[in-house]
Amino acid sequence: GEEARIRRISSSIRVIPNFPKAGVMFQDITTLLLNPKAFRDTIDLFVERYRDKRISVVAGIEARGFIFGPPIALAIGAKFVPLRKPKKLPGEVISEDYSLEYGTDRMEMHVGAVQPHDRAIIIDDLIATGGTLCAAIKLIERVGAEMVECACVIELPELKGREKLGDRPLFVLVKGT
Ligand code: PRP
Repeated sequence: GEEARIRRISSSIRVIPNFPKAGVMFQDITTLLLNPKAFRDTIDLFVERYRDKRISVVAGIEARGFIFGPPIALAIGAKFVPLRKPKKLPGEVISEDYSLEYGTDRMEMHVGAVQPHDRAIIIDDLIATGGTLCAAIKLIERVGAEMVECACVIELPELKGREKLGDRPLFVLVKGT
């Protein structure tokens, strides 16, 4: 059943204390990728949720949204659109700046990749403070497309990233600390 799949996913994620710095419990999804059953379950749970929702765009956030997004996009027959770090995309882009714990970063999307008639979901491995997903949402909404939902494998509820998304729905498979 679904609970067994969620348990398998949860137990396949390795938590590494104090990486990349003291006090951070890093949620390492590379161990989930080493377990084909758990990786398959992860993709299937997203596909089952989105296959009948007329989704036309799966937008994946660099870097780990590039692992989970494409198999979902292929399975539901949607476009995959990469949301990238600055100066990686060769065509004309729109960009959003967002703040990190120290300093700022920028996310870019190709002009024309997402159209006003599109219905989009955004995929990433993890929501922490929610700043990254907020920037991604703004890119999608700026071009007039419909933001259906954000989807992550892991949520860190203590960081209250969900609140930053306002009324945009967020779907997650597991919660971490
Ligand atoms: C991690 C994670 C999310 C983001 C979430 O990426 O993969 O994209 O942080 O954090 P937030 O909710 O506080 O914004 P990271 O910054 O490690 O970049 P990377 O994927 O390029 O390693």
